[in-house]
Amino acid sequence: MLRIDVLTLFPRMLDGVLAESILGKGIASGKLGVAVHDLRAWTTDKHRTADDRPFGGGAGMVMKPEPAIAAIEQLQSPGCRRIYLTPDGVPLSPALAEELSRQQHLILLSGHYEGIDQRIRDTVIDQEVSIGDYVLTNGTLAAAVLIDALARFIPGVLGEEKSLTHESFTSKLLDFPQYTRPAEYRGMSVPEVLLSGNHAEIEKWRHARQVEKTRSVRPDLLK
Ligand code: ADE
Repeated sequence: MLRIDVLTLFPRMLDGVLAESILGKGIASGKLGVAVHDLRAWTTDKHRTADDRPFGGGAGMVMKPEPAIAAIEQLQSPGCRRIYLTPDGVPLSPALAEELSRQQHLILLSGHYEGIDQRIRDTVIDQEVSIGDYVLTNGTLAAAVLIDALARFIPGVLGEEKSLTHESFTSKLLDFPQYTRPAEYRGMSVPEVLLSGNHAEIEKWRHARQVEKTRSVRPDLLK
């Protein structure tokens, strides 16, 4: 079983995310184990200080090295992957999510403030991962996104194995439109071909819609 330790200053941000839906079921059924830790547990002063002013000046505060390094040194296991969530990391991709889903043990560090002391990255971080070109107030939601994205690659977490293979990004095409009952709703009918039972025609129609959608929304995927 994949074990994930998350280090954050805001552990409660993950409560709902980890309890709900498919991810919650995956954890409840032992397909993966997630432990969330409050970084302040590794502070040693009476104010539980996690940050300080940056050397060299500048706005904002920087996460101190001692608590994060002590935490990771305590939690790490031989061969574990220690990941820092940061907008200046390598972009999360399906390939990376899949690779991480096959590990035994991940430690996810979410940053806060204007950044973290470089010595944390230099000593206890193996990989830096970004979930996209925008900046969150802290890395905890990014850790949640990473966990959700990789959990889908763990066998048995998704109900049907099929839902993985058919999907956007495995094929490099965006999804086709889906419909369910009723066949007519407020005057809008489900495309005739989907009711036809002709699987070859349905496949053809779906593929055409995928190409059309991809060309309009993500032409970069077609190159
Ligand atoms: N922390 C803040 N913004 C982030 C991002 N885009 N990806 C990963 N971690 C982050």
